[in-house]
Amino acid sequence: MEESLSDLLVEYELAARANLNPAAFDFIAAGAGDELSLEESRAAWRRYRLRPRIFRGGTAPDLSTDVLGAHLAMPLIVAPTAYQVVAHADGEVETARGVSAAGGLMVVTTRATRTLEEIAAELHGPWWYQVYVVKERRLTEELARRAAGSGATALVLTVDTPYPGFKRRGHVAPVSPEQHLVNFGTHLTPGAAFEEVTVGIDQDASIRLETIAWLRDIAGLPVLVKGVLRADDAVACIDAGAAGVVVSNHGGRQLDRAIATAVALPEIVEAIAGRVPILVDGGIMSGTDVFVALALGADATMIGRPVLWGLAAAGAQGVQRVLDGYRTELGHAMGLAGVVATGDFSRDLVV
Ligand SMILES: Cc1cc2nc3c(=O)[nH]c(=O)nc-3n(C[C@H](O)[C@H](O)[C@H](O)COP(=O)(O)O)c2cc1C
Repeated sequence: MEESLSDLLVEYELAARANLNPAAFDFIAAGAGDELSLEESRAAWRRYRLRPRIFRGGTAPDLSTDVLGAHLAMPLIVAPTAYQVVAHADGEVETARGVSAAGGLMVVTTRATRTLEEIAAELHGPWWYQVYVVKERRLTEELARRAAGSGATALVLTVDTPYPGFKRRGHVAPVSPEQHLVNFGTHLTPGAAFEEVTVGIDQDASIRLETIAWLRDIAGLPVLVKGVLRADDAVACIDAGAAGVVVSNHGGRQLDRAIATAVALPEIVEAIAGRVPILVDGGIMSGTDVFVALALGADATMIGRPVLWGLAAAGAQGVQRVLDGYRTELGHAMGLAGVVATGDFSRDLVV
């Protein structure tokens, strides 16, 4: 029998706990508040049961899919996660190596601890840039254009983080000012003290729906809105120019007791009715969870912490093995359920 992804993720999380200092481990693992959203997001995928089809075997399922012009070998995207240097000395560069080896798509965060150019150099396929609009808007404009110039093909505008949610552990990432500023640095006033610049690079909580079109136009790239949990918001984002939405509660790290994404997804799928691609993340811990998400109407899923555990435990190889594990399990479930291609998913496959 092949190694199960669940076993691999347990092994990698334990290794991460052993390899990392406790502040770094907690920064990655933590959810907000009492961590109810963190726990429930995982459990919500697992509550679904499958209704397999018969007489459809004989060919290997086709896991590939197209999202906003990017051809993906599998419907799996590496979620943007901040400060990856806490998990591995080479941070996002090492993640990029693993993602490239597995043939995935990486979303690079505004809070990356290696430069966009260094990360892009390791990415051989399409990649996306995650945007936190910061108080000093000029910085967001310059970084979005710089990402586009470095090869990003879409922007992911995260909107569930006007400020960081309260956490009982791991509230602050153990990174140095230099690591914190590695991408902002060249855009800041030379010689300014860290304390002076940190205000300008904080999230701007006053962003509105108009920010979507503003960002699209300055970078010339499609904008997906990440952090959507309600159908009315999803529709408003699309009417305001969003090219896609990411159903997300930020991995349970922002508003504790925010609903699980598996619960939010169906109403958003129904309201959007195929107008734009829908991605989803939060607690997707197996290829079968990915299967459920696609059956509920997602076009692709994003994975956060499992990739970081792979990174912390075994660097690029760990990232690659995690992504390969999802791919193998998803293909296995599709084969047994008579789903021959990603375009062949339908709502009746799950109950
Ligand atoms: C350590 C960590 C840092 C994160 N940093 C960001 C970030 O910079 N930008 C962002 O949009 N989301 C961020 N997220 C949220 C992820 O993009 C994603 O929504 C979440 O991790 C998905 O849940 P999962 O970890 O259960 O897969 C972060 C998540 C973690 C665990």
